[in-house]
Amino acid sequence: MRTITLVTQKGGAGKTTVATSLAVAAQQTGETVAAFDLDPQGSLAEWGRIRAKTEPGSIADPRLPVVERFPMERLAKMKAMLDGLGTKGITLAVLDTAGADNPTTHAAMEASSFCLVPIRPTRLDLLAVRATVQAIMRSGKPFAFVLNQCSTIPRNNRANDTATGLSSIGFMAEPLLLLRNDYQDAFASGMGVTEYAPDGKAADEARQLWSWVKAQMETKE
Ligand SMILES: Nc1ncnc2c1ncn2[C@@H]1O[C@H](COP(=O)(O)OP(=O)(O)OP(=O)(O)O)[C@@H](O)[C@H]1O
Ligand SMILES: [Mg+2]
Repeated sequence: MRTITLVTQKGGAGKTTVATSLAVAAQQTGETVAAFDLDPQGSLAEWGRIRAKTEPGSIADPRLPVVERFPMERLAKMKAMLDGLGTKGITLAVLDTAGADNPTTHAAMEASSFCLVPIRPTRLDLLAVRATVQAIMRSGKPFAFVLNQCSTIPRNNRANDTATGLSSIGFMAEPLLLLRNDYQDAFASGMGVTEYAPDGKAADEARQLWSWVKAQMETKE
């Protein structure tokens, strides 16, 4: 049983979007995934509610990934609770956290096999990410940045500049994710991008990101 935690204090970086895309991409490669919403905002849980209403015969299986709000009464024993999922056949847990520095987020980092830190390619986001990095480093968990919502305009260098700024404090996940409608529309349909538009570029990004993260977790074991 492995656990990936999407974490950054910065709001709107893409934690929930990446969590849904990654959970589905992993499910499609044979993992049995449980995705947990640890954010009172409830965005991931809302995605799960939309997904649960998927018509029979849709490419999206309304039962998988399992999508639930994290049972907060079990916060103190999060790791044990997640490990227990392994005995129920779950192979991967994806934790979506709030854009906040709080005990819930810290517990999620502590319970994870790997942390992913989505970050938009702006100076403001680069400045804001340092507090999150310090918190992950205290947890001792491996982590990587996911550059997200990058411009599709080829001459735009902000992604490169941000990647350069990040390289001194951590690793970059591959590939970077561009600003694409598929991510927004897939979420609204209760799907991952690899279900919503399997042949699209966003789907390629999600599949590649899952492969990259999986390989990282395998090398850290
Ligand atoms: N790669 C992308 N392309 C297009 N839109 C994106 C992309 N990633 C995220 N978004 C959009 O950006 C907004 C913020 O994304 P999301 O809610 O996933 O961020 P978050 O980090 O979970 O935010 P919060 O801190 O509020 O939980 C949403 O409207 C989402 O649809
Ligand atoms: Mg969110």
